[in-house]
Amino acid sequence: MGKIAVCPGSFDPVTLGHLDIIRRASAMFDKVIVVVMTNTSKSPSFTADERVDMIKRSVSDIDNVVVDVYDGLLAEYVKSKGATAIVKGLRAVSDFEYEFQMALTNKKLNPDAETVFFTTRAENMYLSSSIVKSIASMNGDIADFVPACIHDDIKKRLCGKVSK
Ligand code: PNS
Repeated sequence: MGKIAVCPGSFDPVTLGHLDIIRRASAMFDKVIVVVMTNTSKSPSFTADERVDMIKRSVSDIDNVVVDVYDGLLAEYVKSKGATAIVKGLRAVSDFEYEFQMALTNKKLNPDAETVFFTTRAENMYLSSSIVKSIASMNGDIADFVPACIHDDIKKRLCGKVSK
């Protein structure tokens, strides 16, 4: 069996930064499973099914990537899929502490899986789903930040919905 990597996240919504990490992981592993999960410290703007659908449309040209949803522990999910790697993107030093804590926790819960960090591309350094949502809610231009095929869905959902 080939090497399987899991690329977890809340993807609310998926951005070009996520897509770059997914693409680079797909070149390195035989199969990549992108999994939409719950981050208990965030309240999403899109349902899990909507997020899965947006990712599916964004990765439709990559043969070895599949998209899934799971509402439980990442370490358990990785084990159940026979995956050996958890792929995450690292943008800045500010991501590090949180990601390091998660990587250590996941290693404790599933010693068979390694967390692999991909360095962000410089142009995606500042990009995040939250930034995209802020811009879209104030009717700004998000075309450079999200895959073109999901651009209108995001605009439709968030335009004018400025949260305080
Ligand atoms: O895109 P995000 O919000 O940074 O992704 C965080 C996510 C969803 C990967 C993380 O919250 C997670 O792994 N959730 C699943 C539950 C879990 O396993 N929690 C313990 C991890 S330390």
